[in-house]
Amino acid sequence: MNADAKKRAAALAALELVEDGMLVGVGTGSTVNHFIAALAGRRHRVAGAVSSSEASSRLLRTAGIEVLELNDAGDLALYVDGADEATRHLDLIKGGGGALTREKIVAAASRRFICIIDDSKLVPMLGRFPLPVEVIPMARSLVARRLVGLGGQPVYRQGFTTDNGNVILDVHNLKIPDPAALEAEIGLLAGVVAVGLFARRGADLLLVAGDDGVHTLKR
Ligand code: A5P
Repeated sequence: MNADAKKRAAALAALELVEDGMLVGVGTGSTVNHFIAALAGRRHRVAGAVSSSEASSRLLRTAGIEVLELNDAGDLALYVDGADEATRHLDLIKGGGGALTREKIVAAASRRFICIIDDSKLVPMLGRFPLPVEVIPMARSLVARRLVGLGGQPVYRQGFTTDNGNVILDVHNLKIPDPAALEAEIGLLAGVVAVGLFARRGADLLLVAGDDGVHTLKR
């Protein structure tokens, strides 16, 4: 099975967890795009969606699914999103698509976070994938120096602006044995909007698609 087929299998497994009448939190990325396509077939049975990016909002609307503002929605029963890396402890790196801040907000507002990945993203320790950090533009160099001080090699994501008007630093060569501690440390740097570590609020359920089917890992 190729990676795209695995992403689709994980997305279809997540769809099984969507109940009638639910308002669904929807993430961003190629794996979630499969979920949106599948959710389209159930659009009359869900109350709508709260989206983590302009890109997903467009896809949801095209699929005939109503997109609500989080401010009008309250807490969500379920949030479905992909990840760039995940551990068996359900700690994640996210933000490869640059939507990490809104993803963090929707995850925080959701009672259950279902993360869907193909098995190439399951790692023993986070850090192989460069860690995205969303930064206020005027603080880019300051934050980059601080990230070097933490042992990383930040690379400015050229030509990319987030949905919130900010920039992204992708931090290479970090070893992350304690994701929750590093999430807190980077999150406290002046100028940082969000760090792509999802450990303090990681996934509740990880659906990992491999050649032999979809495996479920629980926190
Ligand atoms: C978006 O900012 C990311 O957090 C995505 O969830 C992550 O990059 C996974 O994307 P794919 O499903 O495209 O691999």
